[in-house]
Amino acid sequence: MTEILKPTRENIEKSTKLILNDEIVAIPTETVYGLGANGLSDVAVSKIFKAKNRPQDNPLILHISDYDMMENLVYELSDEIKEFLNHFWPGPLTVVMKKKEIIPDAVSCGLDTVAIRMPNNEIARSFIKQCGVPIAAPSANISGKPSPTTAEDVFTDMNGKISVILDGGLCNIGIESTVLDLTKKPYTILRPGFYTKEDFLKYEDEILIDDAIVTENTIPKSPGQKYKHYAPKAKVVVISAKDRKKSSIEIEKIIKENKDLKIGIFKFDETFLNVESENILSLGSVFDLREMSKILFRGLREFDENNVDLIVVEGCDEKGLGFSIMNRLKKSASGNIKYID
Ligand code: TXA
Ligand code: MG
Repeated sequence: MTEILKPTRENIEKSTKLILNDEIVAIPTETVYGLGANGLSDVAVSKIFKAKNRPQDNPLILHISDYDMMENLVYELSDEIKEFLNHFWPGPLTVVMKKKEIIPDAVSCGLDTVAIRMPNNEIARSFIKQCGVPIAAPSANISGKPSPTTAEDVFTDMNGKISVILDGGLCNIGIESTVLDLTKKPYTILRPGFYTKEDFLKYEDEILIDDAIVTENTIPKSPGQKYKHYAPKAKVVVISAKDRKKSSIEIEKIIKENKDLKIGIFKFDETFLNVESENILSLGSVFDLREMSKILFRGLREFDENNVDLIVVEGCDEKGLGFSIMNRLKKSASGNIKYID
């Protein structure tokens, strides 16, 4: 049985001991919950792959509490790079850099680089500091499912597989960090996330986006991007319309055409629907993408708990944070998206 523990001093101490004994502890971060293990231990890291059923070629992010910890892990942590990072760290940014030999192969999966993140969540950072080792942590879901944003969602996927989940409540951001390759200029976004290209362009003249994010049939530079992702049990269809009226017409049409299915509707507050259903959830306002990213994965999981067959989600404008949200939604829906002009 897996325990959900409040992050009290005693519980953090107990969890630290577990980490130093090569056990896994799930931790809250500001993006999503992570499945944490000692990132310098082969044995500990291999347990993460087993618990998540994660493909062996998908490397992990090492989470750090400060730059001193980072110095041991990567080459070329120049003042210029530190200055760049200071604009985003601690926070939802993961950077890929050339790794030092100390990093086990199990973390980097044969690559000569490693992904590093300094999270902004207080519980996470003080826990990492207390452990004194970088914490390898992928999102704490079973591979392929939506990332967990509450301790209960971690429990659903990990009960019996890990001993402890530290409960930090609902994650504030709700989608994963942006992965940025710093190994050469111009820096390249390998996975879109909370921070956008526009955020980085305030400090860099040019930022690239990995082709695989925008086109199909290109091999992604971030190995994890090629796998099925964020998929609830129910089928998902995304309706992307600029006009809320057209969006409601399309949703009502889908409901009419699928009378035999239990349908979950994930809609913006501005979209008026002329239907009665217990399975309608709000994505917040169409003007508040932060709210949408915060509740997206939780909502997909809630529909699964209610045994819905089909989830109809409204898409957002693919700009800024909306680009990252739509990247997740398209994957949840395995590309099943309908654009309405
Ligand atoms: O917000 C987040 O990033 C969360 C929290 C827990 O920190 N973590 C997370 O980890 O999303 P995960 O394992 O689910 O996704 C990590 C992504 C994967 O797509 C992986 O392929 C990529 O980062 N990655 C890891 N190391 C890499 C490397 N050396 N080069 C390129 N991509 C890498
Ligand atoms: Mg993940």
